[in-house]
Amino acid sequence: MAEPTASALLHRACQALTGQSDSPRLDAEILLQAACGIDRTTFACDPEKAISSTQARQLLTLVERRRTGEPIAYILGHKEFWSLDLALSQDTLVPRPETEILVQAVLDATPADSPVDIADLGTGSGAIALALASERPLARIVATDSSRRALAQASNNAMRLNLEVTFELGDWLVPLQGQVFDIIVSNPPYVCEGDPALERGPSLFEPPEALFSGPDGLSAIRQICAGASDCLKPGGMLALEHGHDQRSALDELLLGASLGSIAHFNDYAGQARVSTARRVAHSNH
Ligand SMILES: C[S@@+](CC[C@H](N)C(=O)[O-])C[C@H]1O[C@@H](n2cnc3c(N)ncnc32)[C@H](O)[C@@H]1O
Repeated sequence: MAEPTASALLHRACQALTGQSDSPRLDAEILLQAACGIDRTTFACDPEKAISSTQARQLLTLVERRRTGEPIAYILGHKEFWSLDLALSQDTLVPRPETEILVQAVLDATPADSPVDIADLGTGSGAIALALASERPLARIVATDSSRRALAQASNNAMRLNLEVTFELGDWLVPLQGQVFDIIVSNPPYVCEGDPALERGPSLFEPPEALFSGPDGLSAIRQICAGASDCLKPGGMLALEHGHDQRSALDELLLGASLGSIAHFNDYAGQARVSTARRVAHSNH
């Protein structure tokens, strides 16, 4: 039997993904490249290129995984974040574009020419810590996570990217007791347990401990706020990503934890998704 052509396979993949993915054509193109090494340019030059039956089978296996809703990032095993190519597995959250707003807020508050101390809590794949390390080579960055597997992934990413971050296993700030930081940054889990919005879609494949945080989604944020002042230098900054409806609850938690000068940053839909606050300079910690 004749080997299938790239265009016939792309068409088949696209059809299989229609109705299952928001971007069937794009997904099919990405998977064609992953399984058969045919990128857009190669395809445009020679759409009738013959594909071996082994590669065709590989493509259909990847398409089937995508049909079940598995995120492209897990299928490929990597994802770009802040122009860094991060290796990923189902042990870590797929880094989201909103988190780049958090990285930018921290960079805007971090001088490039001095050795600031930064802690990233719940580092997952290492996305935030590594983005900051790539932009602020003088910073001393430590990152924690309670998941041993996530930390292994993050430290593997740091090695591959040749970026310096220290990783500590444990609960939020617990492994960092006795240290003080200019900046504490975190994208903690902040979804309410049982949120029906996450019963479908890519989140089904992500680790629950990276997503859910108590009945109101604020358990992790509460813990981080409560401990932040003790680990911040006077005037030091806490920067958090959070849900679009958590802004006022978070303001109360920040003020109750001796953190002031609160600022909010909106996502591309105009909703507050990142907040920063500073340790009041004269608080008695
Ligand atoms: C929303 S994910 C963020 C991952 C990564 N920082 C990012 O932005 O893509 C939250 C992370 O917090 C970690 N985590 C959950 N509970 C934790 C705890 N009690 N202490 C430390 N890390 C925790 C999870 O393992 C997960 O990696």
